[in-house]
Amino acid sequence: MESIPETMMAWKKTRPEFGGFELLESQVPKPNQGEVLVKTHSTSICGTDLHIWKWDDWAAENVPTGTITGHETCGTVVGLGKGVSTHQIGDKIAVECHLACWNCDRCDEGNAHICEEGEIFGVHSDGAFAQYFTIPAVNARHLPENLPLELASIQDPLGNAIHTLTGGPVKDATVAIHGLGPIGLFAVNAAKAMGAKLVIAIDWDNQTRMNLARELGADVVLGKDDDIIESVLSHTNGKGVDNSCEFSGSPTALSNTIYSTRMGGYVNILSVYGNKLTEVPMNDVVFRYLHVKGINGRKMWSTWDKMHELLSANKIDINTLVTHRINYQEYPKGVELAMSGDCGKIIMDF
Ligand SMILES: NC(=O)c1ccc[n+]([C@@H]2O[C@H](COP(=O)([O-])OP(=O)(O)OC[C@H]3O[C@@H](n4cnc5c(N)ncnc54)[C@H](O)[C@@H]3O)[C@@H](O)[C@H]2O)c1
Ligand SMILES: [Zn+2]
Ligand SMILES: [Zn+2]
Repeated sequence: MESIPETMMAWKKTRPEFGGFELLESQVPKPNQGEVLVKTHSTSICGTDLHIWKWDDWAAENVPTGTITGHETCGTVVGLGKGVSTHQIGDKIAVECHLACWNCDRCDEGNAHICEEGEIFGVHSDGAFAQYFTIPAVNARHLPENLPLELASIQDPLGNAIHTLTGGPVKDATVAIHGLGPIGLFAVNAAKAMGAKLVIAIDWDNQTRMNLARELGADVVLGKDDDIIESVLSHTNGKGVDNSCEFSGSPTALSNTIYSTRMGGYVNILSVYGNKLTEVPMNDVVFRYLHVKGINGRKMWSTWDKMHELLSANKIDINTLVTHRINYQEYPKGVELAMSGDCGKIIMDF
């Protein structure tokens, strides 16, 4: 067994400003009771990491300076805290980043992803832009057999996409995906994999991502030059889609979802909006009897079960979606690329 060093390299948000990260030598953490110590294989860059880089209001409220950030991660278990019987040294795992108490009313009712005492690994506490990290064993999820460790970190955004889609019907249904960032692109691919009859993929003007959506199986791709509402209606006999998913964070896209979902249909919203008081065409929600649902994280564990079923059947085209791999020392370059939008998912190797 390889020995565990005393120190490691880690990206810490040390200054409360745009950028403000330093790659520092830090202590390798020790696993507490119920935790595992993991040697990081790779961690992908998420939109949340861009908020933390930019240090917007949300980041300033949520991320203590000095935190090692990074939450979409995977690696190999190299240490076990007291009482851990579910894992062994050498196990390959990926992280569910919502840390739950497993003891509150929300956890008891099966909604641990919105635990009343919940925290997010790599946001509120140290995460995985580092060579090692500790995590509660229950959050260290074993991989489906055919998923290589190299690609395992994408289960966080893929899970977000599947959780959003499953807020409404997918099999044999008509589905519209608004916003083709990495999560929207995963949703396009997962909707096809789950048997959607028609998948309409919509971005503003990101040609790289619109092309990726075509490769990932979108039946129709729309952008700013199209009348989105008219186009969605014309592809659905004038009725609107069964299931609209919002991944853009644009208020325009949000109202488009409401106007282009069929009577009694489903609008599922994962996006975070810059303006807390985003306007919605409320009377259409009411009179058209829409089911509008906010989505957060991944259901623990039904989303993971559905995701592992799809991954085991080789139904998700991860390789097309991962457009860049970089070394962890190039994190600032990865952030720049992610902010440019000229990419799918970016993975950093450790
Ligand atoms: N609720 C959660 O648990 C959770 C978790 C992760 C991410 N998020 C949020 O989900 C959203 C998606 O994240 P991401 O990283 O995949 O996306 P992103 O921010 O990288 O991409 C958004 C895409 O939307 C497109 N867009 C902009 N305006 C549009 C419009 N009017 N119509 C259609 N498309 C438009 C952009 O061109 C871009 O390609 C973000 O808002 C993110 O903050 C939520
Ligand atoms: Zn994320
Ligand atoms: Zn709880």
